[in-house]
Amino acid sequence: MYELIPVAQAPQYDEEAEQRFAEEWPEFIFHDLEVRKYIDRRQEYFPEWEFYLVSDDERLIAGCWGVPLVWDGTVEGLPGGFTDSLVRSVVGYEEGVVPNTFVLMAAAVRSDEQGRGHAGRVITSVRDRAVAGGLAQVIAPVRPTLKSSYPLTPIETFMTWTREDGLPLDPWLRTHVRLGARLLAPATASQTMTGTVADWEKWTKMPFPSSGTYTIPAGLTTLDINHSTDQGLYKEPNVWLRHA
Ligand SMILES: CC(C)(COP(=O)(O)OP(=O)(O)OC[C@H]1O[C@@H](n2cnc3c(N)ncnc32)[C@H](O)[C@@H]1OP(=O)(O)O)[C@@H](O)C(=O)NCCC(=O)NCCS
Repeated sequence: MYELIPVAQAPQYDEEAEQRFAEEWPEFIFHDLEVRKYIDRRQEYFPEWEFYLVSDDERLIAGCWGVPLVWDGTVEGLPGGFTDSLVRSVVGYEEGVVPNTFVLMAAAVRSDEQGRGHAGRVITSVRDRAVAGGLAQVIAPVRPTLKSSYPLTPIETFMTWTREDGLPLDPWLRTHVRLGARLLAPATASQTMTGTVADWEKWTKMPFPSSGTYTIPAGLTTLDINHSTDQGLYKEPNVWLRHA
Protein backbone atom coordinates (compact mmCIF):
# COMPACT_ATOMS: atom_id res chain seq x y z
CA MET A 1 0.00 0.00 0.00
CA TYR A 2 1.01 3.57 -0.62
CA GLU A 3 0.00 6.86 0.91
CA LEU A 4 0.07 10.39 -0.48
CA ILE A 5 1.27 12.68 2.34
CA PRO A 6 1.48 16.50 2.29
CA VAL A 7 5.17 17.41 2.52
CA ALA A 8 4.53 19.61 5.55
CA GLN A 9 3.60 16.46 7.49
CA ALA A 10 6.69 14.52 6.46
CA PRO A 11 9.80 16.69 6.75
CA GLN A 12 11.92 13.58 7.35
CA TYR A 13 11.78 12.96 3.57
CA ASP A 14 12.76 16.49 2.48
CA GLU A 15 16.46 15.93 2.09
CA GLU A 16 16.10 12.65 0.24
CA ALA A 17 13.39 14.08 -2.00
CA GLU A 18 15.47 17.06 -2.98
CA GLN A 19 18.34 14.84 -4.02
CA ARG A 20 16.36 12.04 -5.70
CA PHE A 21 13.89 14.10 -7.65
CA ALA A 22 16.29 16.85 -8.76
CA GLU A 23 18.23 14.13 -10.63
CA GLU A 24 15.20 13.36 -12.73
CA TRP A 25 15.31 16.74 -14.52
CA PRO A 26 17.78 18.28 -16.97
CA GLU A 27 19.63 21.20 -15.37
CA PHE A 28 18.19 23.78 -17.78
CA ILE A 29 14.70 23.15 -16.37
CA PHE A 30 15.72 25.08 -13.26
CA HIS A 31 16.62 28.25 -15.17
CA ASP A 32 13.30 29.82 -16.09
CA LEU A 33 13.76 33.35 -14.75
CA GLU A 34 10.04 34.05 -14.49
CA VAL A 35 9.58 30.93 -12.34
CA ARG A 36 12.26 32.15 -9.95
CA LYS A 37 10.25 35.32 -9.25
CA TYR A 38 7.23 33.35 -8.06
CA ILE A 39 8.39 29.97 -6.78
CA ASP A 40 9.05 31.02 -3.18
CA ARG A 41 5.59 32.53 -2.85
CA ARG A 42 4.11 29.32 -4.26
CA GLN A 43 5.70 27.38 -1.40
CA GLU A 44 4.47 29.91 1.12
CA TYR A 45 0.90 30.15 -0.20
CA PHE A 46 0.17 26.55 -1.22
CA PRO A 47 2.06 24.16 1.08
CA GLU A 48 -0.99 21.86 1.10
CA TRP A 49 -0.57 21.15 -2.62
CA GLU A 50 2.78 19.41 -2.48
CA PHE A 51 2.99 15.69 -1.68
CA TYR A 52 5.17 12.65 -1.21
CA LEU A 53 4.05 9.15 -2.16
CA VAL A 54 5.36 6.83 0.54
CA SER A 55 5.14 3.03 0.75
CA ASP A 56 4.00 0.97 3.74
CA ASP A 57 7.60 0.35 4.72
CA GLU A 58 8.16 4.14 4.74
CA ARG A 59 10.16 4.38 1.52
CA LEU A 60 9.89 7.59 -0.43
CA ILE A 61 8.59 6.64 -3.89
CA ALA A 62 7.44 9.79 -5.67
CA GLY A 63 6.72 13.47 -5.27
CA CYS A 64 4.37 15.92 -6.92
CA TRP A 65 3.10 19.46 -6.57
CA GLY A 66 0.48 21.69 -8.09
CA VAL A 67 -1.23 25.04 -7.76
CA PRO A 68 -4.85 26.21 -7.45
CA LEU A 69 -6.13 28.86 -9.85
CA VAL A 70 -9.19 30.14 -11.67
CA TRP A 71 -9.87 28.75 -15.13
CA ASP A 72 -13.02 29.28 -17.20
CA GLY A 73 -12.92 25.76 -18.65
CA THR A 74 -12.16 26.86 -22.22
CA VAL A 75 -9.05 26.17 -24.30
CA GLU A 76 -8.75 29.92 -24.97
CA GLY A 77 -8.81 30.59 -21.24
CA LEU A 78 -5.98 28.15 -20.42
CA PRO A 79 -2.78 29.56 -18.93
CA GLY A 80 0.11 29.70 -21.41
CA GLY A 81 1.68 26.71 -19.70
CA PHE A 82 3.72 25.83 -16.62
CA THR A 83 5.12 29.29 -15.88
CA ASP A 84 1.92 31.15 -16.60
CA SER A 85 0.03 28.76 -14.28
CA LEU A 86 2.46 29.53 -11.49
CA VAL A 87 2.12 33.28 -12.03
CA ARG A 88 -1.67 33.09 -12.26
CA SER A 89 -1.95 31.07 -9.05
CA VAL A 90 0.28 33.39 -7.03
CA VAL A 91 -1.30 36.59 -8.36
CA GLY A 92 -4.78 35.13 -7.87
CA TYR A 93 -3.98 34.26 -4.26
CA GLU A 94 -2.72 37.79 -3.61
CA GLU A 95 -5.86 39.25 -5.16
CA GLY A 96 -8.04 36.98 -3.02
CA VAL A 97 -9.79 35.18 -5.86
CA VAL A 98 -11.39 31.81 -5.12
CA PRO A 99 -9.76 29.07 -7.24
CA ASN A 100 -11.80 26.41 -9.04
CA THR A 101 -9.02 24.44 -10.74
CA PHE A 102 -6.04 22.35 -9.70
CA VAL A 103 -3.01 22.39 -11.99
CA LEU A 104 -0.72 19.39 -11.52
CA MET A 105 2.62 21.07 -12.23
CA ALA A 106 5.16 18.31 -11.78
CA ALA A 107 5.51 14.70 -10.71
CA ALA A 108 8.60 12.54 -10.37
CA VAL A 109 9.06 8.91 -9.43
CA ARG A 110 12.42 7.77 -8.04
CA SER A 111 14.45 6.23 -10.86
CA ASP A 112 14.63 2.70 -9.38
CA GLU A 113 10.83 2.60 -9.05
CA GLN A 114 9.84 3.87 -12.51
CA GLY A 115 7.66 1.74 -14.78
CA ARG A 116 5.68 0.21 -11.89
CA GLY A 117 2.58 2.33 -12.10
CA HIS A 118 3.46 4.72 -9.30
CA ALA A 119 2.74 7.77 -11.45
CA GLY A 120 -0.84 6.54 -11.78
CA ARG A 121 -1.15 6.27 -8.00
CA VAL A 122 0.13 9.80 -7.63
CA ILE A 123 -2.22 11.21 -10.27
CA THR A 124 -5.36 9.50 -8.97
CA SER A 125 -4.64 10.39 -5.34
CA VAL A 126 -3.83 14.03 -6.01
CA ARG A 127 -6.86 14.32 -8.28
CA ASP A 128 -9.11 13.02 -5.48
CA ARG A 129 -7.57 15.51 -3.04
CA ALA A 130 -8.13 18.37 -5.46
CA VAL A 131 -11.77 17.53 -5.97
CA ALA A 132 -12.27 17.04 -2.22
CA GLY A 133 -10.63 20.44 -1.71
CA GLY A 134 -13.18 22.16 -3.94
CA LEU A 135 -11.07 22.24 -7.09
CA ALA A 136 -13.39 20.39 -9.43
CA GLN A 137 -11.33 20.91 -12.60
CA VAL A 138 -7.94 19.19 -12.81
CA ILE A 139 -5.51 20.07 -15.61
CA ALA A 140 -1.79 19.63 -16.27
CA PRO A 141 0.82 21.13 -18.61
CA VAL A 142 2.53 17.81 -19.26
CA ARG A 143 6.17 17.38 -20.28
CA PRO A 144 6.00 14.42 -22.70
CA THR A 145 9.01 12.25 -21.85
CA LEU A 146 9.50 10.82 -25.35
CA LYS A 147 9.47 14.26 -27.02
CA SER A 148 13.20 14.61 -26.39
CA SER A 149 13.74 11.90 -29.04
CA TYR A 150 11.89 14.13 -31.55
CA PRO A 151 13.15 17.66 -30.82
CA LEU A 152 12.54 18.84 -34.41
CA THR A 153 8.90 17.76 -34.52
CA PRO A 154 6.37 20.48 -33.62
CA ILE A 155 4.51 19.69 -30.39
CA GLU A 156 1.23 20.11 -32.30
CA THR A 157 2.24 17.12 -34.44
CA PHE A 158 3.89 15.06 -31.69
CA MET A 159 0.79 15.18 -29.49
CA THR A 160 -1.33 13.60 -32.25
CA TRP A 161 0.90 10.52 -32.57
CA THR A 162 -0.82 7.37 -31.35
CA ARG A 163 -0.10 3.66 -31.19
CA GLU A 164 -2.22 0.97 -32.82
CA ASP A 165 -4.41 0.81 -29.72
CA GLY A 166 -5.27 4.50 -30.15
CA LEU A 167 -3.39 5.63 -27.03
CA PRO A 168 -0.70 8.35 -27.27
CA LEU A 169 2.75 7.23 -28.43
CA ASP A 170 4.29 9.18 -25.56
CA PRO A 171 4.34 7.08 -22.35
CA TRP A 172 3.65 9.97 -19.97
CA LEU A 173 0.74 11.31 -22.03
CA ARG A 174 -0.47 7.73 -22.25
CA THR A 175 -0.43 7.29 -18.47
CA HIS A 176 -2.62 10.37 -18.05
CA VAL A 177 -5.00 9.34 -20.86
CA ARG A 178 -5.39 5.84 -19.39
CA LEU A 179 -6.45 7.51 -16.15
CA GLY A 180 -9.15 9.44 -17.96
CA ALA A 181 -7.41 12.59 -19.19
CA ARG A 182 -8.10 14.30 -22.51
CA LEU A 183 -5.53 16.17 -24.58
CA LEU A 184 -6.69 19.78 -24.72
CA ALA A 185 -4.08 21.83 -26.57
CA PRO A 186 -0.38 22.34 -27.14
CA ALA A 187 1.43 24.71 -24.79
CA THR A 188 4.10 25.80 -27.24
CA ALA A 189 6.02 28.01 -24.80
CA SER A 190 5.18 26.45 -21.44
CA GLN A 191 8.52 27.62 -20.03
CA THR A 192 11.26 29.93 -21.31
CA MET A 193 14.85 29.32 -20.31
CA THR A 194 17.47 31.96 -21.00
CA GLY A 195 21.15 32.18 -20.15
CA THR A 196 24.51 33.23 -21.50
CA VAL A 197 26.32 30.92 -23.90
CA ALA A 198 28.58 29.88 -21.00
CA ASP A 199 25.51 29.10 -18.87
CA TRP A 200 24.11 26.83 -21.55
CA GLU A 201 27.46 25.13 -22.04
CA LYS A 202 27.52 24.36 -18.33
CA TRP A 203 23.87 23.22 -18.14
CA THR A 204 24.08 20.92 -21.17
CA LYS A 205 27.77 19.92 -20.91
CA MET A 206 28.09 20.80 -24.64
CA PRO A 207 30.25 23.46 -26.30
CA PHE A 208 28.41 25.83 -28.67
CA PRO A 209 31.23 27.28 -30.82
CA SER A 210 28.96 29.11 -33.33
CA SER A 211 25.67 30.92 -33.30
CA GLY A 212 22.88 28.64 -34.50
CA THR A 213 20.22 26.11 -33.57
CA TYR A 214 21.21 23.05 -31.56
CA THR A 215 19.56 19.89 -30.27
CA ILE A 216 20.45 19.34 -26.61
CA PRO A 217 20.26 16.35 -24.22
CA ALA A 218 16.72 15.98 -22.81
CA GLY A 219 15.57 19.01 -24.80
CA LEU A 220 11.99 18.76 -26.03
CA THR A 221 12.84 21.29 -28.71
CA THR A 222 15.96 23.07 -29.98
CA LEU A 223 18.15 25.72 -28.36
CA ASP A 224 19.00 28.95 -30.19
CA ILE A 225 22.48 30.24 -29.48
CA ASN A 226 23.40 33.82 -30.37
CA HIS A 227 27.03 34.77 -29.79
CA SER A 228 26.55 38.44 -30.71
CA THR A 229 24.11 38.92 -27.81
CA ASP A 230 25.74 36.16 -25.71
CA GLN A 231 22.39 34.50 -25.20
CA GLY A 232 20.84 31.08 -25.46
CA LEU A 233 17.05 30.77 -25.69
CA TYR A 234 14.95 27.63 -25.24
CA LYS A 235 11.15 27.54 -25.16
CA GLU A 236 9.86 24.30 -23.68
CA PRO A 237 6.73 22.87 -25.35
CA ASN A 238 4.24 20.94 -23.21
CA VAL A 239 0.73 19.53 -23.73
CA TRP A 240 -2.34 20.66 -21.80
CA LEU A 241 -4.40 17.77 -20.45
CA ARG A 242 -7.66 17.78 -18.57
CA HIS A 243 -8.63 15.00 -16.19
CA ALA A 244 -12.21 13.78 -16.11
C1 LIG B 1 7.24 10.25 -16.04
C2 LIG B 1 7.21 9.51 -14.71
C3 LIG B 1 6.59 10.38 -13.64
C4 LIG B 1 6.37 8.24 -14.92
O1 LIG B 1 6.31 7.56 -13.68
P1 LIG B 1 6.19 5.96 -13.60
O2 LIG B 1 5.73 5.60 -12.25
O3 LIG B 1 7.43 5.35 -14.09
O4 LIG B 1 5.00 5.71 -14.62
P2 LIG B 1 4.32 4.34 -14.99
O5 LIG B 1 4.93 3.19 -14.25
O6 LIG B 1 2.87 4.56 -14.90
O7 LIG B 1 4.74 4.19 -16.49
C5 LIG B 1 4.17 5.06 -17.44
C6 LIG B 1 4.63 4.67 -18.80
O8 LIG B 1 6.00 5.07 -18.94
C7 LIG B 1 6.81 3.94 -19.23
N1 LIG B 1 8.07 4.13 -18.50
C8 LIG B 1 8.21 4.27 -17.19
N2 LIG B 1 9.50 4.43 -16.88
C9 LIG B 1 10.18 4.40 -18.02
C10 LIG B 1 11.54 4.52 -18.36
N3 LIG B 1 12.48 4.72 -17.43
N4 LIG B 1 11.87 4.44 -19.66
C11 LIG B 1 10.93 4.26 -20.62
N5 LIG B 1 9.61 4.14 -20.35
C12 LIG B 1 9.25 4.19 -19.08
C13 LIG B 1 6.04 2.76 -18.74
O9 LIG B 1 6.37 1.59 -19.45
C14 LIG B 1 4.61 3.17 -19.03
O10 LIG B 1 4.29 2.96 -20.37
P3 LIG B 1 3.19 1.84 -20.80
O11 LIG B 1 1.97 2.65 -21.07
O12 LIG B 1 3.74 1.23 -22.00
O13 LIG B 1 3.05 0.90 -19.64
C15 LIG B 1 8.63 9.06 -14.30
O14 LIG B 1 9.23 8.37 -15.34
C16 LIG B 1 9.54 10.23 -13.89
O15 LIG B 1 9.59 10.59 -12.74
N6 LIG B 1 10.29 10.81 -14.84
C17 LIG B 1 11.18 11.93 -14.56
C18 LIG B 1 10.44 13.21 -14.26
C19 LIG B 1 9.45 13.54 -15.36
O16 LIG B 1 9.77 13.55 -16.53
N7 LIG B 1 8.21 13.82 -14.95
C20 LIG B 1 7.14 14.12 -15.90
C21 LIG B 1 7.04 15.56 -16.22
S1 LIG B 1 6.10 16.41 -14.99
